[in-house]
Amino acid sequence: MRFLPDSREPKVAIVGFGYVGCCLGVALAEQGLYVTGIDRDPRLVAQLEDGRCHIAEPGLPEALERLRGTGRLTFSTGYDAIGDADVIVIAVGTPIGPDRLLVTRQLEEVCAELAPRLRRGHLVVVKSTVSPGATRNLVRPLLEAGGLVQGDDFGLVYCPERLSEGNALSELRELPIIVGGCDPESTHSATEFWKRALDVPAWEYTSSEVAEIVKLADNWWIDHNIALANDLARLCDAFRVDVLEVIGGANSLPKGGGHVNILLPSVGVGGYCLTKDPWITWNAARERGVRLETIETVRAVNDAMPRYTHETISAELARAGRDPGGAKVAVLGAAFKNNTGDLRSTPVKPVVDGLRAVGAVVSLYDPLADPAELRSLMGVEPSATLEEAVTGAHCLAVLAGHEPFQQLDFAALRERVSSPCLVFDGRAYYSPETVEELRRLGFGYRGIGR
Ligand SMILES: NC(=O)c1ccc[n+]([C@@H]2O[C@H](COP(=O)([O-])OP(=O)(O)OC[C@H]3O[C@@H](n4cnc5c(N)ncnc54)[C@H](O)[C@@H]3O)[C@@H](O)[C@H]2O)c1
Repeated sequence: MRFLPDSREPKVAIVGFGYVGCCLGVALAEQGLYVTGIDRDPRLVAQLEDGRCHIAEPGLPEALERLRGTGRLTFSTGYDAIGDADVIVIAVGTPIGPDRLLVTRQLEEVCAELAPRLRRGHLVVVKSTVSPGATRNLVRPLLEAGGLVQGDDFGLVYCPERLSEGNALSELRELPIIVGGCDPESTHSATEFWKRALDVPAWEYTSSEVAEIVKLADNWWIDHNIALANDLARLCDAFRVDVLEVIGGANSLPKGGGHVNILLPSVGVGGYCLTKDPWITWNAARERGVRLETIETVRAVNDAMPRYTHETISAELARAGRDPGGAKVAVLGAAFKNNTGDLRSTPVKPVVDGLRAVGAVVSLYDPLADPAELRSLMGVEPSATLEEAVTGAHCLAVLAGHEPFQQLDFAALRERVSSPCLVFDGRAYYSPETVEELRRLGFGYRGIGR
């Protein structure tokens, strides 16, 4: 059976309208589809209905504004829209617990809501990141509990979401979509859906398990590569050479149809995906008796970077004759990623904790992060302005390289900070010219691997 209407544009319901659901919903509606975003969070739905955007993603508020009143994007806390939809996308959260095991509760609750509402011809697309086999062995039986049979009555596929924060809307219009169904008809229908809906390449794979592992492999590679960059940075620190110079040279080597592509070192790895997906992979392998030692190592390397950061800051302050206890450190940028306000699992939190543990006085400024969230996470009252944060500082620790921090007027800041003052570069990757300028102005400079 084919799981897509021939004669008209398919109607879409997206269950879980958080970061991924909202970005996807907007992209589909902008392509002209009728989309309903379903989320159990009434506050979120009320905000979206009011035209307020809770997600700091470039272009998203403007797109939501453009779609307002068109009827192409609606929101609900209830599941009524399921009956009218052709395609149902599941994009709820799949966190890990304190034991690092995948928590599938949100997914299970959604399936329980969907099962009695499914009708013949529905195509269900799972986008949430899951363990290999979860689409077939967890989602399918829960949906079939409603009485319909997957493959005969409704289609089921896994299509991982691979967008990266900060570029989500453009990536949704470009990235190829990986499609792996529980049966060939589901796969073909979903492939056609994505091609029609987003006009992007959709690549068919032989099973939902392949598609599930593709997602995990991507994030495994990224985490692994960042760990390599972080270890390389520590090596470069020991030899007093600039890691960015080394990476530039190393990446010029052609390899495997592309080039060596070492990513950038930083204060650490945070966010919602890289801190959990490798553990989902690790646990899935362990359940099959396979121990993935690279994941253990990579996670340990990346988790150690916040400590490396605050210990390096303390050591540099001491080297400049300033006791880190009582020194003022202005932390500029608290998000886990440049140019986002996302504080989820940000590595800046353990840096701030480490600095405060040695008695440093920490001020915090992040123009993109929500001040209330920042206050509650860090236990520090955030500064309202850059000037307030840096006044009297012995160190300016740029820990997220947001655009405004790339344009800092260090000559003007020099008048406000203490002397000597260290600029610590955790993720801004200042050019050699900027570093030269900093030195000329009398600042000390230190970066991760620089
Ligand atoms: N954030 C990213 O950059 C990213 C990228 C790729 C993949 N993913 C994956 O996509 C999935 C979603 O991630 P996210 O960042 O959008 O999470 P999120 O927490 O921002 O959004 C999940 C939403 O689901 C809603 N929800 C939970 N249970 C529900 C239910 N029973 N019914 C209706 N709504 C319900 C929540 O209220 C929330 O708004 C996760 O599996 C994640 O690993 C995330």
